[in-house]
Amino acid sequence: MGKIKVGIINVTGYAGVELARLLFRHPEVQLRSVTGRSAAGQKLAAVFPHLADFDLTITADLDEPVDVVFSAMPHKASAEAIIPLVNKGVKVIDISADFRLKDSAAYLAWYEFAHPSPGMLKEAVYGLPELHRSAIADARLVANPGCYPTSAILALAPVVKEGLIEPGIIIDSKSGVSGAGRALSLTTHYAEASDNVAAYSLKGHRHLPEITQELGALNTVLQPSVTFLPHLIPMSRGILSSCYAKIKLGKLTNGLKDLRQVYTDFYRNEPFVRITDASPGTKQTWGSNFCLIYPYIDTRTGTIIIISCIDNLVKGAAGQAIQNMNIMFGLGEAAGLEALPVYP
Ligand SMILES: NC(=O)c1ccc[n+]([C@@H]2O[C@H](COP(=O)([O-])OP(=O)(O)OC[C@H]3O[C@@H](n4cnc5c(N)ncnc54)[C@H](OP(=O)(O)O)[C@@H]3O)[C@@H](O)[C@H]2O)c1
Repeated sequence: MGKIKVGIINVTGYAGVELARLLFRHPEVQLRSVTGRSAAGQKLAAVFPHLADFDLTITADLDEPVDVVFSAMPHKASAEAIIPLVNKGVKVIDISADFRLKDSAAYLAWYEFAHPSPGMLKEAVYGLPELHRSAIADARLVANPGCYPTSAILALAPVVKEGLIEPGIIIDSKSGVSGAGRALSLTTHYAEASDNVAAYSLKGHRHLPEITQELGALNTVLQPSVTFLPHLIPMSRGILSSCYAKIKLGKLTNGLKDLRQVYTDFYRNEPFVRITDASPGTKQTWGSNFCLIYPYIDTRTGTIIIISCIDNLVKGAAGQAIQNMNIMFGLGEAAGLEALPVYP
């Protein structure tokens, strides 16, 4: 079999350009076509000098036949671009939120648009390999998870699935500013974001329905009740989620030993989830597809504390999308994703 031909819709955003960087080293694929309105007609290497070794021109629309397309568009625009491609038989991995939620009414409530294809929404597979690997392998449309949900769901899945906690869950997440994208906005200006930390979306962040959908499906008896509060931190990449829940009476009787065993068992064969021996920091994931998880118990209050870290642009976006592509095409799951984190 020849190399898999790949296209990226919107290489001019942070998620799209990170895809190009990671795909450069992928042994089984060839990046054939990249789009971006603001840079159409320009060389990819000229717009992004760190990609100097690519000889590709950014176009307004995909200009080559491809086997798989990554869409890194904003929500709504992404669905409009993707639906015709899926109908033509091209495999698609959508990095936007447009196919993540199963309930089409949730798009009106959370994203303020009527979903154009509730049928395709049902068919799309939520692309968190640690939970949906076999469905991803057979999918023609994969909805790549959001960055916050990736860190939160991976942190909580083992204890939710095993019913070890009470329903009340608190997820306190911190994200670097690249999570807000490359478009200019006042909140991410240097003078606004540096030397500053702020909570936002107290009335409910768009990633909340995704988190509750996936945690709820893991344990329909538990019915998790999730409080999710994101914060903006003055760093370019990374998400750290601190998750809290009360231990259910009679569970985890051997304390931390039991809890760590649950996590090591749950993620035993996962190439990109690591259970750490000490509380991790986001820098330990920079540029890599790893999710680091540290399970802990506050014995004074009977509360579990699960800390998780990812690079929002890699495991939280482009890296996970490539992991999904590898699964969809039967490639080694870690192909193109072997790089270790950058340090310091
Ligand atoms: N940043 C993250 O950490 C992250 C993580 C997970 C998922 N995501 C999702 O991935 C998608 C891209 O995010 P991003 O952070 O890469 O965003 P971004 O850096 O702001 O880029 C958005 C891209 O979309 C283009 N664009 C903007 N409005 C458009 C429209 N109406 N129609 C067509 N193109 C438009 C922009 O480029 P041109 O003006 O050149 O066309 C740009 O390339 C979003 O859906 C986001 O929610 C992001």
